[in-house]
Amino acid sequence: MIWKQNSIVTALAPMRDISTRAFCDLFLNYGEPDLYVTEFLRVHPASGIDRNIEEMLINRPSTRPIFVQLLGREPVEFIRVAKLLPRYEIQGIDLNFGCPMPKIHRKGVGGALLEEPWTIDKILSEIAQSLELPLSVKIRVGLENDLKFEQIIAVLAQHSLSHVTVHARTVCGLYREKVNFEYVKRAKAMLECKVFANGNINSAQQACDVVGQTCCDGVMIGRAAVRNPFIFRQIRELQATGTCFVPKFRDAHSYVLQLMDITEQSAPNEKKHVSYLKKYLNFIGQCVDREGKFLHCARRAASKAELIAAIDSHIGQYDGEDFHDTPYENVIARPNCE
Ligand SMILES: Cc1cc2nc3c(=O)[nH]c(=O)nc-3n(C[C@H](O)[C@H](O)[C@H](O)COP(=O)(O)O)c2cc1C
Repeated sequence: MIWKQNSIVTALAPMRDISTRAFCDLFLNYGEPDLYVTEFLRVHPASGIDRNIEEMLINRPSTRPIFVQLLGREPVEFIRVAKLLPRYEIQGIDLNFGCPMPKIHRKGVGGALLEEPWTIDKILSEIAQSLELPLSVKIRVGLENDLKFEQIIAVLAQHSLSHVTVHARTVCGLYREKVNFEYVKRAKAMLECKVFANGNINSAQQACDVVGQTCCDGVMIGRAAVRNPFIFRQIRELQATGTCFVPKFRDAHSYVLQLMDITEQSAPNEKKHVSYLKKYLNFIGQCVDREGKFLHCARRAASKAELIAAIDSHIGQYDGEDFHDTPYENVIARPNCE
């Protein structure tokens, strides 16, 4: 993968049901990441390419690379599904070794594989033997603790990878445990491939600081890009000029209305549309007001009109004020505290 030397590589994190094709296309206007990664595609004996993954890959307007993320356990299944992928224009395959959803890791896939460095080794060896596409890996620092972290990185070091993304907390720490970027630094010191830091990077300044502290090559950003779609542009500007565009509440307002439009297309009725849009508002609302009044009001909206009223009154009222890019403490995205 060719990325500009000496500049921070930015990636949009895979986020199931959030980083959809319509959502990714919004970044064409707000400033694109250098890399997109699809949400995970579960591989098992009966799996093919899901419709939402296919949607991500066909007729993309973006020229930025996209990796398809696979989640599974058996090399033979990874290979079978991976062999279906070259028909699309993709630049690589990302392997998910960090998913914390209990129903996933209890089946011995995702984050559970961090307990089995030898299985990770086998998966990587067998995929690399049968496939020519670049491979990358997304990990957390361990399942319950970090005892196997160095062993895992040593295994990754034996393979030819495009990049490794380290979500710097344990699987059981879900989204509550404090992120510790020391692990990113340790991974970078042991690996020849590019290393990306991930986890609670909320602003362009923080992205630049994390890269400075860890010597890593880039950042993968998820929820902060949902809150503030300008973040990839801001990182580039901050790096190049030392300052960056600061969005106002009126920018956030028009962005939320755009989200309302794009989510409508994929919802079969108003009720589902409203509840789907709330998935995004759950994150955005963390930055609207420190008392969580907007989130309180948005969560109770039962119709599109009620939701628009909540958006117009709470986000609209701040109009020309700077949009706060870091979540207010104690304003929690429920139900998972993500
Ligand atoms: C709603 C949601 C869905 C996610 N889906 C995936 C996924 O499909 N694959 C994956 O590797 N990580 C997934 N993640 C984890 C993110 O990619 C990322 O590692 C995590 O959110 C931490 O980064 P952030 O603090 O920048 O959001 C998901 C996270 C969220 C909030």
